[in-house]
Amino acid sequence: MNNLPSSWAPFALHTPRLTLRFLTADDADSLFPLFSDPETLRYWSSVAWLHPDQARANIEQTLQGYRDGSSLRLGLVLRDGDQAGALIGTVTLYEFDRRNHRCDIGYMLGRPYWGQRYMQEALPAVISHAFGPLELHRIQADIHPDNIASERLLQSLHFQREGHLRERWFVGDEISDSIIYGLLRRDWQAAVHPAQ
Ligand SMILES: CC(C)(COP(=O)(O)OP(=O)(O)OC[C@H]1O[C@@H](n2cnc3c(N)ncnc32)[C@H](O)[C@@H]1OP(=O)(O)O)[C@@H](O)C(=O)NCCC(=O)NCCS
Repeated sequence: MNNLPSSWAPFALHTPRLTLRFLTADDADSLFPLFSDPETLRYWSSVAWLHPDQARANIEQTLQGYRDGSSLRLGLVLRDGDQAGALIGTVTLYEFDRRNHRCDIGYMLGRPYWGQRYMQEALPAVISHAFGPLELHRIQADIHPDNIASERLLQSLHFQREGHLRERWFVGDEISDSIIYGLLRRDWQAAVHPAQ
């Protein structure tokens, strides 16, 4: 048995600087600047958005994912300071394989927020939720071979490099390979609660 529901009821996770919460239709205007920056989307699996309608369509997909349980996307929202309440990125658990207790993870941070360890703070909360209440066994990440920041981030969170798959993604006219990283629940538990 697994603990994955057939639809996702809203909840929030909290870290020292962030709230991770469900997205709503009202987030479209905040999401557009993040996903319309070609530099941020450089290693993403789709090209940068050109029109705000794409943000609305993307949120509609997110809401559909909540309804049918197919994906769980959380918005990263700043808790304090001048920009309190600002949506600065997203984390998504998707490709749930319920029988085998596994899923994929994807994440992005708006460029103004890079280099401040926000994702290093957000991902442990999501991973602990996935291996805790959701009872997942394995989380997988698929990254572009040149995405060094993403690779370093995963390594710092104890993901292990497991493979290199060739020419797996067409993004626009470009074809790119995938580097696969995996994290097992036991890797995470050993890292978070090392044996004394
Ligand atoms: C991936 C992402 C979330 C990382 O967040 P970030 O705030 O930029 O990451 P950090 O600045 O904390 O960098 C992470 C690590 O990579 C290193 N790094 C960052 N850019 C680097 C570069 N160009 N070359 C070498 N190392 C780099 C940092 O020094 C850090 O390493 P450390 O922990 O050993 O010091 C962010 O860059 C992002 O959203 N990118 C666009 C979307 C994306 O590519 N998502 C991933 C798709 S799988």
